[in-house]
Amino acid sequence: MCGIVGYIGTKPVKEILIDGLRELEYRGYDSAGIVVLQNHQFSLFKAVGKLINLEEKASLFESTGFSIGIGHTRWATHGKPTELNAHPHVGAVSYVVHNGIIENYQELKNSLTHEGVQFVSQTDTEVIVHLFEHHLSNVGTPFEAFKATLAQLEGAYALLLVTASEDKTIFFAKNGSPMIVGRRGEDETFFGSSDAALIGKAQEVIYLEDGQYGYATAETITLFDPHHHALQSRFTPLSVTKLSAQKEGYRFFMEKEIYEQSTVLADTLMGRLREDEIYFEELPSDLFEGICEIKLCACGTSYHAAMVATYLLERHAKIRTSVEIASEFRYREPLLTPDTLFVVISQSGETADTLETLKMAKKRGLKTLVICNVDNSSMVRLADASILTRAGIEKGVASTKAFATQVSVLWMLSLHLAGLRQTLEASEIGRQISVLRTLPSVVKVENSTHEQLRRLSKRYLHGHGFFFIGRDVFFPLALEGALKLKEISYLHAEGYPSGEMKHGPIALADPELFTIALLPEHKLYDKTKSNVEELSARDSTICSLSPLDFDKADDHIRTHSHSDYMAEFFEMMVILQLFSMEIAIRLGNDVDMPRNLAKSVTVE
Ligand code: F6R
Repeated sequence: MCGIVGYIGTKPVKEILIDGLRELEYRGYDSAGIVVLQNHQFSLFKAVGKLINLEEKASLFESTGFSIGIGHTRWATHGKPTELNAHPHVGAVSYVVHNGIIENYQELKNSLTHEGVQFVSQTDTEVIVHLFEHHLSNVGTPFEAFKATLAQLEGAYALLLVTASEDKTIFFAKNGSPMIVGRRGEDETFFGSSDAALIGKAQEVIYLEDGQYGYATAETITLFDPHHHALQSRFTPLSVTKLSAQKEGYRFFMEKEIYEQSTVLADTLMGRLREDEIYFEELPSDLFEGICEIKLCACGTSYHAAMVATYLLERHAKIRTSVEIASEFRYREPLLTPDTLFVVISQSGETADTLETLKMAKKRGLKTLVICNVDNSSMVRLADASILTRAGIEKGVASTKAFATQVSVLWMLSLHLAGLRQTLEASEIGRQISVLRTLPSVVKVENSTHEQLRRLSKRYLHGHGFFFIGRDVFFPLALEGALKLKEISYLHAEGYPSGEMKHGPIALADPELFTIALLPEHKLYDKTKSNVEELSARDSTICSLSPLDFDKADDHIRTHSHSDYMAEFFEMMVILQLFSMEIAIRLGNDVDMPRNLAKSVTVE
């Protein structure tokens, strides 16, 4: 997602900032900007799209001698990807770049607006620079104003701020989003939101802790803890390679992306949850007018997310909903009527089969919606409306965080529509919204769980196959668990509705058949349990996932007790992802680039 860089020194600042931003490109972004302060003059450049656009805008700018600068790549969350919404954000005499979310920005914005401050962007970040300048006009020094500003910010942030009266200083703070300060020799200071931006530049770094803040010049870094006590700067050498820096210490991108789900889900939900309604600012108000049916179309993992949506949309919004695999739908001469909303789901927005179904639906005059992770992708450009999932770039070929964000968007869509169609009480929508709010913590990986899965994986390397089974939304989750396993371990795995096993597949049951049973407490527990018992009676090896004890299992992964089955869904999703990954690692496979697979399938 967003990236931050900063520099104080005498080298060419523009090149250092843009080069640092380029190292953060892999995180995904849709606009970028830098500001340089030199000889009491600010030079600001912003551009939508790739860094090349920013380079073009700043092509005539050159710095000589001492200067300071900050830069940012932005992945739009609060407001569209426009130049006005791009960072750095501007006050009268100060500039700020920020990663994270200022949760109380609306409240702060209201009170600043009341005092006559004019906002030019739709972002939460802009309040920081105006709040700082508000304090600057009341207190003695920029540093005091900076401290007073931080005291009022709620939420997650990593931020850099520069102001005219301190033209040798960058103010910095970290709370919940990563920030690193680095130095080279005695007279250069660097900032980056990840190691990757600092490699080859800084020689040693400080990884800031939550709540730490301070200010830096070329020669000194002054650091404080959250209780305003001065801290000794403790540097560690920066010796990682570029690739390992991008993986942020994880063994594989897939692992990083599984761990990242907590933060990306927070981004997905941001600005969309109200007390008892879901708000999608991007949806045209008449999108659902005249619509009596929803048809979903997708491939692979996105198809599994779409399957989950069929349960949620019919259950919550009481609207007839069906789902199809895009490659089948294209050629089966489907009946399409204009009272159907056609929804495609795609991480990349480029998958050929899905894109073709979208074109078909458009040609037949249907209203279309895409749920996608990539702004400006072919599907986003083509569909009448789009909802971005905000997962950031997904590098692992096996999709993880994209699936998590797709399901959460689809769940929100079902509640949004339930509100419009008045098919759920506001109190029930409000209750589910409170469950949605817990998702970032539900998907946080606990060390003990990961360790259990790592140990368990050694027992599941051989055998003649896996069945992942579940009911209701846990059936598509079972399909997704099986797909993850086969993609990266090359072991044979199938997903099945647990009630369907006795209609044939149970013939395969024996100790060499591994059954991964999804037993949520709050969705058809007893029914699923009976199905698993049938398999256990035939000596299948059972690994169960449940918050409740299950004595027929050979291995049991105890999940947390949640108030709602959808929270159970998300916790089990993470476990299945880690389970597949640990098996694949033990088998020595390339987890990020499994054989025969491509990340974006742009052929039929
Ligand atoms: C599996 C996976 C694929 C994709 C499928 C559709 O881990 O990633 O199954 O889900 O190829 O891709 P998108 O979502 O980009 O349309």
